[in-house]
Amino acid sequence: MNKKTVRDVDVRGKRCLVRVDVNVPMNPGAREISDDSRIRAVLPTIRYLSEHDSVVILCAHFDRPKGKVVEEMRLAPVRKRLSELLEIEVVDAGGPSGPEPVAVVERLAPGQVALLENLRFDPGEEANDPEFARSLASLADIYVDDAFGAAHRVHASVVGVADHLPAVAGFLMQKELEMLGRVVDDVTHPAVAVIGGAKVADKIQVLVNLSERVDTVLIGGGMVAAFLRAQGYGSGSADISKDEVSAAKGLLDRKETRMMIPQDVIVAKSFSADTDSATVPADAVPDDALVLDIGPITQDTYANEIGSARTVIWNGPMGVYEWDQFASGTRSVANAIAENRDAVTVVGGGSTAEAIDSLGLRDKVTHVSTGGGASLEFLEGKVLPGVAALDDIDNNRAGEQ
Ligand code: 3PG
Repeated sequence: MNKKTVRDVDVRGKRCLVRVDVNVPMNPGAREISDDSRIRAVLPTIRYLSEHDSVVILCAHFDRPKGKVVEEMRLAPVRKRLSELLEIEVVDAGGPSGPEPVAVVERLAPGQVALLENLRFDPGEEANDPEFARSLASLADIYVDDAFGAAHRVHASVVGVADHLPAVAGFLMQKELEMLGRVVDDVTHPAVAVIGGAKVADKIQVLVNLSERVDTVLIGGGMVAAFLRAQGYGSGSADISKDEVSAAKGLLDRKETRMMIPQDVIVAKSFSADTDSATVPADAVPDDALVLDIGPITQDTYANEIGSARTVIWNGPMGVYEWDQFASGTRSVANAIAENRDAVTVVGGGSTAEAIDSLGLRDKVTHVSTGGGASLEFLEGKVLPGVAALDDIDNNRAGEQ
């Protein structure tokens, strides 16, 4: 990674504005955090800065309040959870703009941690408004970005603020870039990409980019139907556009990579948890059926491919894994990845991370990304604006030309 990190700057006694992504799922109504993985993931950076006598000013968004104060989207539950995990009181810094944060930050001693209110309560955040960026920057001496999950957003706290302060990566950002980089830029072969998802259109760029980097691509999820049609098979009753079929055909025609589509699939007449299901060969999907999972022969084939790989990247469930009778494809891919201890195994965030969590296998993979949209854009080969905004490591060090 050619970006500076917190270790490349002197943080002692400095005020550090730390952007984190703590956009965690909450049980509606009770406002209880149902999964705190994103909060836990930023603790190493906060602890490091606090232990190095920085004044730590955390800033984050929650949900999409669209520039207005929305009571149910306040960060209080996140602040409480952070305080419990860090075992120190995380101070409420108010704001995110106006005089309150300035006054709170002035009173903070080195080592203390404060959290600004939801950045998206201010319309300047999503508009990347220079005034809002300047007001955030005025609170600190150094900007630390540990919000990989928001790095694809051109927002004031992600991009604008870096114009005013030294801008470095936190440990989570560093880990995400290094781990996802190992499946995109620095691949150990043989490499397998397992890509699922509902629509080809959502994954086409990921498929194109990864097919140039890995040896084998295993296709699953709802988009299988478009690939079956592209093969000249029936694809059931799914609504598939001509564009999707031609995108799938274009991918199947690529010579550089082995593109594998299912040999058999699990189908049902209706999209519901308790519908009757059947396993059919891929070339015999009934016209009135929906493809809701990969079949058992395909599960074995995919597990073998995953088992002999040295690098595996997985993004997108293989079927409707939330419903038991369509969960076996996702489960078998997850197990195969967890069992391959010789490979670097990386799981893209969002629903794939939820799937691996629901199977209790998070600890068995090398890295589970905290980014949903951000990890997808990274896998598409895009430069994330939040990463581009960080300071580069100076390659011309003393003694070098
Ligand atoms: C996420 O949950 O993927 C990030 O926090 C970004 O949220 P957003 O999609 O609302 O920008």
